[in-house]
Amino acid sequence: MLPRLGVNIDHIATLRQLRGTKYPDILTAARLAEKGGAEQITVHLREDRRHIQEQDVKILRSELRVPLNLEMAATEEMTKFATRISPDWVCLVPEKRQELTTEGGLDLSGNQKRIEKTIATLRKAKIKVSCFVEPTLQAVKLSKALGATAVEFHTGRFCIATQEGSGSSRASSRAKSELERIRKASLYAIKQGILPHAGHGIDYENIRTLAELENEQRETLIQEYNIGHAIVCRAALVGMERAVREMVSAILAP
Ligand code: PXP
Repeated sequence: MLPRLGVNIDHIATLRQLRGTKYPDILTAARLAEKGGAEQITVHLREDRRHIQEQDVKILRSELRVPLNLEMAATEEMTKFATRISPDWVCLVPEKRQELTTEGGLDLSGNQKRIEKTIATLRKAKIKVSCFVEPTLQAVKLSKALGATAVEFHTGRFCIATQEGSGSSRASSRAKSELERIRKASLYAIKQGILPHAGHGIDYENIRTLAELENEQRETLIQEYNIGHAIVCRAALVGMERAVREMVSAILAP
């Protein structure tokens, strides 16, 4: 099976919230992502609503052609919202108000009861659930035991190691060992019958290394990627020339 790309459009909303404008329009961004081959749209409704708003999720839910994956904390408020909106997937993530972005995987063992209850409520509402976890066998085992359909491995450590130190041997041996953790955890997830997904910090270079992870039968290990920041940044660059040309035309228009 070919791996799917979920495009996280949180930072389109970040640009909008920065100025309190109506643009850039979330649905337009999602539609363009669909056109480009996104097989899923992912958004994180954070407790502090710093980028995506409830209204964005509602609009995406009713208008998207591809599945909607809602990242959220395992709280009562968010669970109620999710069961009302009914996204195709919920990805449970840890959340701290001060963090710049999601800085680590879920602490499953410290929050078993709450997470198990959240997963049960969501699955009863026919929503598939993934747990955003560190790539460890223990996290896979617990996610499965708590009822998740998939695990999304936090690839942040691996990605930082690939981006730091411009190929220094320390950074590349760290990247190698982080990649090995992801490989082992993915193999274990497949054996356990839980789908391995991946996300966080993935860019246009390190994606190749992840996409080349295979089992002995040469089948792809990671089945889904959720990627946001690198794609939104790239979009700003590849779209710059046209955006400027349109503004020049607007200035010169009679
Ligand atoms: N997956 C999860 C669970 C996340 O929290 C994030 C960050 O919002 C991503 C994927 C996307 O990460 P990035 O923006 O670094 O591609």
